[in-house]
Amino acid sequence: MIPLELIEQAKTAQVVTVLTGAGISAESGVPTFRGENGLWKKFRPQELANFDAFMRNPELVWEWYNYRRKIIEEISPNSGHFALVEMESYFPQFNLITQNVDGLHQRAGSRNVVELHGNIGRNRCVKCNRISTENLSLNGQKVPTCECGGLLRPDVVWFGELLPEDAIQKAFQASKSCDFFFSIGTSAVVYPAASLPEIAKQNGAFVVEINLEPTPITSFADISIRGKSGIVLPQIVKALT
Ligand code: OAD
Repeated sequence: MIPLELIEQAKTAQVVTVLTGAGISAESGVPTFRGENGLWKKFRPQELANFDAFMRNPELVWEWYNYRRKIIEEISPNSGHFALVEMESYFPQFNLITQNVDGLHQRAGSRNVVELHGNIGRNRCVKCNRISTENLSLNGQKVPTCECGGLLRPDVVWFGELLPEDAIQKAFQASKSCDFFFSIGTSAVVYPAASLPEIAKQNGAFVVEINLEPTPITSFADISIRGKSGIVLPQIVKALT
């Protein structure tokens, strides 16, 4: 059941900003990072998601990313992603910021998506930074290289790396200027993404969290809904339209 206050606030909102995390893709079958069946329970992030690890063992990192790419290729966006597509045309201004690298928002039809942590569908040369969108795989055991000879790496943000400047600036601006903020399916422990709901709140936005569990956002959110985003978001859209 969606609280009436949420619908009333949303109906008058002019600028709506949404932050999504791995939880929104969970119902599509993309594993989350934390929690019972989370990736970081089975794999060690320090061996797979940082630059030094990549340079030490690029084949292992490539295998891991290709495993995740395969999962993503085989699944589809879910009703949570589609509800956000509908919201994009409902609100006068709508900003969608995601920590996800799976591209599912775009596949669902969202047009303006700010990707804070990159996209697993792209690769980037470690030497010249050239971006490649070719669907590459390991050639035998060899990691693909760029024309310049540099190794290609997934174009995602790894631990210890800076977020893409343009994306984080847009995200800060969208969080500062909104009057309604949704935090959806994120554990809100990875910064700077986790600061976005705080920034929105400090600037007077009405903050709504949708998550299966409490998170650090719960303590200051105006409304926290415990439920699956694929169920809750379509209910919100239905109540709005
Ligand atoms: P996490 O795996 O940390 O958190 C997923 C959150 O989604 C948890 O709080 C779950 O309770 C919630 N959740 C799971 N299923 C849900 C559902 N169906 N509906 C609603 N909520 C659900 O994922 P993120 O917060 O996205 O960074 O993680 C942030 C970053 O940490 C990732 O972008 C990645 C990771 O290390 C990098 O790779 C740089």
